[in-house]
Amino acid sequence: MARVALVTGGTRGIGAAISKALKAAGYKVAASYAGNDAAAEKFKADSGIPVYKWDVSSFDACAAGVKQVEADLGPVDVLVNNAGITKDTAFHKMTLEQWNAVINTNLGSLFNMTRQVIEGMRARKFGRVISISSINGQKGQFGQVNYSAAKAGDIGFTKALALENAKGGITVNVICPGYINTEMVQAVPKDVLEKNVIPQIPVNRLGEPEEIARAVVFLAADDAGFITGSTLTVNGGQYHA
Ligand SMILES: NC(=O)c1ccc[n+]([C@@H]2O[C@H](COP(=O)([O-])OP(=O)(O)OC[C@H]3O[C@@H](n4cnc5c(N)ncnc54)[C@H](OP(=O)(O)O)[C@@H]3O)[C@@H](O)[C@H]2O)c1
Repeated sequence: MARVALVTGGTRGIGAAISKALKAAGYKVAASYAGNDAAAEKFKADSGIPVYKWDVSSFDACAAGVKQVEADLGPVDVLVNNAGITKDTAFHKMTLEQWNAVINTNLGSLFNMTRQVIEGMRARKFGRVISISSINGQKGQFGQVNYSAAKAGDIGFTKALALENAKGGITVNVICPGYINTEMVQAVPKDVLEKNVIPQIPVNRLGEPEEIARAVVFLAADDAGFITGSTLTVNGGQYHA
């Protein structure tokens, strides 16, 4: 029986590449998204992967969403916590709304989503929880106190949850991408990318979403059971924590 994988934010950018790579590796995949229906419908038509709309910053919405996915596809074996947003500004100008939105979407979502599936994984003695953090959660970034705090939180979440579930066949790992060629990074002005970002990347280019997907497929595999609590850095050599 094919294992079931649920990818949050799985319809665009890195998440879309993860969804497609898991499908190609033989998983039954569900991709969630927040509100961009046009992108989700296009992704569904291209990939044949079912899409589900809910807000990962809401615990109740996650409960209902996971229930629907499990009714359609079966119990979730692999959860990829990928959905994320940025609301960048210097901390001394940051509003409570900008802080809360980023913390709740990028860190609160790990509780909201993982809590829905962990009891089932424990009962079945198999599970993979893979979260997408960021280089900026490892090193900090100007204008991203909210994002860096949330993404660093993802790493602590992973280390602690891995300990609690290590004996039960469940692995919990986190991937820290560097700068990846998605809409999130394309929002950075081109001259800033060329003058300030790419020169800091030793391989001298942005990463591609498929290069993060490859790491997810590696960690999701049944025979990756000895890898847990780890932080996998995929950043072209830019930073080593
Ligand atoms: N791009 C990079 O260079 C980079 C680097 C390091 C880490 N990351 C992390 O990698 C992850 C993916 O980034 P990306 O660049 O692929 O982002 P993206 O292209 O902006 O796509 C984000 C995806 O997340 C979904 N999403 C956002 N907020 C959500 C919410 N509240 N509830 C449910 N889904 C939500 C979006 O849904 P809609 O389509 O409906 O908006 C979309 O599917 C994020 O966690 C990001 O922080 C990215």
